[in-house]
Amino acid sequence: MPVISAPEDFHVDDLYVDLRPALGASLYLKCEGFNFAGSIKLKAARAMIADAEERGALTADSVIVESSSGNLGVALSMIAADKGYRFLCVTDTRCNLTTRRLMEAMGAEVHILTEPHPETGFLGARLDLVRELCASDSRYLWLNQHANPYNWLAHHRTTAPAIASHFPDLDVLFVGAGTTGTLMGCARYFKESGRPVTVVAVDSVGSVTFGGPPGLRMIPGLGAGVRPQLLDEAYVDDVVHVPEVAAIRVAHRLAAAGYLFGGSTGTVIAGARGWLAEHRPDGRATAVAIAPDLGERYLDSVYQTNWVSDIYGAHALDRDAVRPR
Ligand SMILES: Cc1ncc(COP(=O)(O)O)c(C=O)c1O
Repeated sequence: MPVISAPEDFHVDDLYVDLRPALGASLYLKCEGFNFAGSIKLKAARAMIADAEERGALTADSVIVESSSGNLGVALSMIAADKGYRFLCVTDTRCNLTTRRLMEAMGAEVHILTEPHPETGFLGARLDLVRELCASDSRYLWLNQHANPYNWLAHHRTTAPAIASHFPDLDVLFVGAGTTGTLMGCARYFKESGRPVTVVAVDSVGSVTFGGPPGLRMIPGLGAGVRPQLLDEAYVDDVVHVPEVAAIRVAHRLAAAGYLFGGSTGTVIAGARGWLAEHRPDGRATAVAIAPDLGERYLDSVYQTNWVSDIYGAHALDRDAVRPR
């Protein structure tokens, strides 16, 4: 029976969904949304704060500031509330209302940017503001998930070893790429371990992370308008790009089977299914995909019929997903 005295001390690290009954896919989904922050970003948040405390960079006077599409912001809000730090989250209009309210409920200040930078998009605009704030007042402490090695080290120390011990025969691991913290932590771990695991990065169409052309992306968490500083492609075996429509259809199909996951989980599964169909069509590979969060935060977007048809067109709605099976 786990008994905790700090909210960040709880995380389920050993839950997988076998996707055969729900999707007919020979794929295990590692669920990272079962903690009080509701997402995988709790791991990066804990590791970056612990490092800043150890270095003496984070003191009682500090105001933690971070650019986040939401999930890291929620995790940092939670840890800041527990430890008595002030926290300012810089995000943009794609951050959904529930996520914003969660941060505010835990005492964080949330700054929402409404205009993307003409070349570097919303991410570029967020980073510009964070830099301005830090230059204006020395109390601001930017953990900088985009460049902080503790972002990937968190997964090198926890996520990857957990998957390795649960799946000794793992063949392929699918990881979504946002800041690439999860991807780089897992990819480095498996390369260093010498195990013959193929690590496949899953990105959104419209993300420039792996050199593709920029385009509209509405699902938060995955993809970037600026190449992630943590990314070292030498560790990544393959990359797939998924259109957001395909991600939304997968998310709806899972919801119709009773699993409400976040939009980026739809992206990762859609990418994994496509890759497996092409490279391992015999269905005999042991494959794991990582689900960064759950779906409640996306009820007004990914799971909202009008939102989906306004952005992607009515054809995007997968009518089959809601039919009884
Ligand atoms: C919902 C969601 N999916 C995926 C990711 C990507 O994780 P990473 O930043 O480790 O690449 C994030 C990160 O914020 C996220 O919030």
